[in-house]
Amino acid sequence: MTNTTNKTAMRGPALTFVNDPFVVGDVAAMRYLPDALILIDNGQITAFDDYSTLKEQAAGYAIDHYPNALILPGYIDTHVHYPQTQVIGSYGAQLIDWLNTYTFVAEQQFADTQHAKTVANVFLQECLRAGTTTAAVYCTVHPQSTDAFFQAATERNMRMVAGKVLMDRNAPAALTDTAQSGYDDSEALIKKWHGKGRNLYAITPRFAPSSTEAQLEAAGALWQAYPDTWMQTHVSEDRKEIAWVKELFPERAGYLDVYQHYGLTGPRSLFGHAIFLDEPEWEHIAASGSGLCHCPTSNAFLGSGFFNFQRAKHGDHAIRVGLATDVGGGTSLSMLQTMGASYKIARFGGYSLSAAKAFYLATRGAAETLYLQDQIGSIAVGMEADLQVLNLHSTPLIDFRMQRCESLQEALFVQMTMGDDRATQAVYIAGELAYSAPSSDDACSTGRRVMNLAT
Ligand code: GUN
Ligand code: ZN
Repeated sequence: MTNTTNKTAMRGPALTFVNDPFVVGDVAAMRYLPDALILIDNGQITAFDDYSTLKEQAAGYAIDHYPNALILPGYIDTHVHYPQTQVIGSYGAQLIDWLNTYTFVAEQQFADTQHAKTVANVFLQECLRAGTTTAAVYCTVHPQSTDAFFQAATERNMRMVAGKVLMDRNAPAALTDTAQSGYDDSEALIKKWHGKGRNLYAITPRFAPSSTEAQLEAAGALWQAYPDTWMQTHVSEDRKEIAWVKELFPERAGYLDVYQHYGLTGPRSLFGHAIFLDEPEWEHIAASGSGLCHCPTSNAFLGSGFFNFQRAKHGDHAIRVGLATDVGGGTSLSMLQTMGASYKIARFGGYSLSAAKAFYLATRGAAETLYLQDQIGSIAVGMEADLQVLNLHSTPLIDFRMQRCESLQEALFVQMTMGDDRATQAVYIAGELAYSAPSSDDACSTGRRVMNLAT
């Protein structure tokens, strides 16, 4: 981490999660301080408590005061494709057609390093504007797309997990590697970037249909050789895709079994979508400590299906689930929009996702899914100071609606239903102000409201 000699402090209402609300309940999982002080030294949080308790320790700190807003951990997007920033909102197709028509065309442009740099910078700037401070990111098959991404992340000192996509079949020739070249290129990228600054590497077989058995085997071997890296892929997103996997891997019990067979499940594995898992697959996800990335705007946009919250988070074993945008299948980089979409997707299954649970899934829950909960995702002593300030009055209609909010949960639910990147007032990366919205929250009409966590 880049050290800063500056001492930074933030003051204002603050919310973080100290536990999993699906396990302990919403109120017990939250820590809400109506007037908090956060002290930050060298990019890490060194104190977090009520302002009245800590104010004597604040001498020598420049305090940024946000009395009308809400300080939160930065959002964590557990599954997103930065090269698809340029095809977000592409019309009219289900997964496989959408990949062939739009995605695989756009991704070919990332052979050009300059193009990759441009899009990586747009993507990261948009993450900041959305309040997202960490993401698990797919690059393209080209190693230079990953170099460009980590370079851009390094320039912003953002904690990012990313990797070169592996695919050696069922894609245009210009987008394929081989089992050997994919292994070699990924290994070189691991050596160059993993653990350098705040960068972390994810071995990234795109999905089972675009890798041969030889490539999946090589990916498993690479993960064994570098066991502290991540592994990310897609699973059970779409019915046609699942039927295709059955054809391509007839000897495997199911889609997840393909990955299990090649040693690609376990801690720090990340599976995007996971909509149509059967019971043995749910059990394997739980028992292996694998993580699921729920991508609600993408699942709605492509017409893929409905993630089963009830099974994922209320079964016998806690399963690690993080929210994800999956841009460009997803339609927004805003985690507020993503939370709002996850509520709607859950309703189709008769489940009501509370605001506390949604904000947990976008912060601490996502960090737990990435096994990074000791570094990011919470406001607590020792955590990296990746924080955001949420403007609770970012549009006239939200401001009007907020005047009738009686509790923190209600206010959070309004934010996730109506809010977007306009609600990001400020973002701090490792304690340094990295983004500040053009207008301040001084314009809000309601003034400061101290909300009661218990109601
Ligand atoms: N499955 C394989 N590749 C992709 C992708 O780029 N986006 C989505 N949504 N699903 C995929
Ligand atoms: Zn995806």
